[in-house]
This record gives sequence, C-alpha cells and structure tokens, in this order.
Amino acid sequence: MILILLGPPGAGKGTQSRRLQERRGLPQLSTGDMLRAAVAADSDIGRETKAIMAAGGLVPDRLMVRMIAERIEQEDCKDGFILDGFPRTTAQAEALDGLLVARGLKLSLVIEIRVDDLVMIERVIGRFTCTKCGIGYHDTFKTTRIDNVCDSCGSTKFDRRADDREDTVRARLEAYHIQTAPLLDHYLKQGIVVPVDGMAVMDEVTFQINQAVDGVND
Ligand code: AP5
Repeated sequence: MILILLGPPGAGKGTQSRRLQERRGLPQLSTGDMLRAAVAADSDIGRETKAIMAAGGLVPDRLMVRMIAERIEQEDCKDGFILDGFPRTTAQAEALDGLLVARGLKLSLVIEIRVDDLVMIERVIGRFTCTKCGIGYHDTFKTTRIDNVCDSCGSTKFDRRADDREDTVRARLEAYHIQTAPLLDHYLKQGIVVPVDGMAVMDEVTFQINQAVDGVND
C-alpha cells in the first residue's frame, strides 16, 4: 500500500503518518525529517538546503525526487510506504508517477488533511519535541504531564524546530497554497483523494484516516 498525506504545515501529517506507521507496519517517509537529518549531519544536501528551509521555501525538485527515488529502493519499502511531505509540487508528483510506473506500483490513496490557516500557525509555533525519544508536544494542545519532563522517557531536554517561527510558518503556508494545493487536482483526476477533517481532535483524525485506509483493497 502506498499512501500520501497531503496538507499544510501543522495539519498533522507527521503525527498521523507516525500513527499509521505503527498500525500498518509501513515506513513513514518524511522528507522534512530527511532534510533536517541532512542539515544536522552537515552533508552536501544539508548545506544546500539549510537556508531554504529556514526561510520556509521549497527545496529544489531535483534533490527531493532523488532523495525519494533512493529511499523507496530500500528493503523496508517493499510492501509499501507512507509519504509525508512529498510530493509538494506538480513536478514532484509527475516524477513520483514515473517512479511508481517504472516499478509496477500504484498509489493507493491520497489523504487530504483539511485545516484552517490561523489554527495552523498556532499549532506550529507551539510545538516542541523531546530530544531523547522524539515524542512531540504542544504548549497548549499536548503538554507534558509533569512540567518539563517527557511523559515517555523522562528526559528534561526538549527542542523546537528552527523553521517554527511565525514569519517562516506564514512563508510555508504560502508555499503550500501556491505550489502544493494544486496537486489535489492531479490526484482528484485519479479518483484517489479522501478528505479528512484535520481540525478535529487527534484521535478523531486518526479514526477518519483508519476508516479510509481500511477501505482500500490492495
Ligand atoms: P516538513 O517537515 O514536511 O514540514 P511541514 O509540511 O511544514 O509540516 P509540519 O511538520 O510543520 O507539520 P505536520 O503537518 O507534520 O504537523 P504535525 O503532525 O507536526 O517540511 C519542512 C521543510 O522542508 C519545508 O518547509 C521545505 O523547506 C522542506 N521540504 C520538505 N519536503 C519537501 C519537498 N517535498 N519539496 C521541497 N521542500 C521540502 O503537527 C503540528 C502540531 O500540531 C504538533 O504540535 C501536533 O502535536 C499538533 N497537532 C497535530 N494534529 C492535531 C490535532 N488534530 N489537534 C490539535 N493539535 C494537533
């Protein structure tokens, strides 16, 4: 099964694709996480993309397509995968179509997480993660049970993403509306888009996604 989670910054793509990964045993391929790892490792790709990401722009298509083409060749993707943050442009969507056709694969479902822009800004600028186990929290929507102590691993070290500032989030939202939202038409024509209400509480969003995914005959 091959799934795409599509939605603006803060829609819950990461949250929901990690839950899907646990439930379906499919790897979550987050291009944002891959790029942040490249920046942290100070690799060639990391050096090329650091400033673009910090400004909230989109990394060039050629890099992203190469990154995904290499990733889906790995053994853990043989039974399918969940794309989180890719494709983000028409060129990326067309390249993905080509990659899948060349491998005799097809997309199962595009899950469109619908949300409100203003709420997204609040969600993104309030989020933080545990540096040790990677669990995500939010200043308002998902706080730690004990102040400054991770519920899951007990660590007291947390991190915030460099691009989670309000001005950058606005730039990311603009990039989404101009470059990514038009992809919906591309997938609507293929009849594989399922909208879910991303404004609902997390468990309800998960429920809606599970219902859609369970209905796929793959
Ligand atoms: P990326 O890491 O993909 O960031 P994004 O798309 O901006 O998405 P986010 O990770 O910010 O949000 P999300 O939808 O995953 O929401 P989350 O689950 O965290 O990309 C970063 C950058 O990398 C891009 O700007 C670009 O520069 C580059 N890039 C990446 N891919 C690229 C590509 N293909 N092409 C070009 N450039 C690329 O949730 C957000 C918060 O809300 C959390 O705190 C969460 O706990 C909370 N939350 C989630 N759901 C709910 C809910 N239902 N109710 C209340 N709170 C909720």
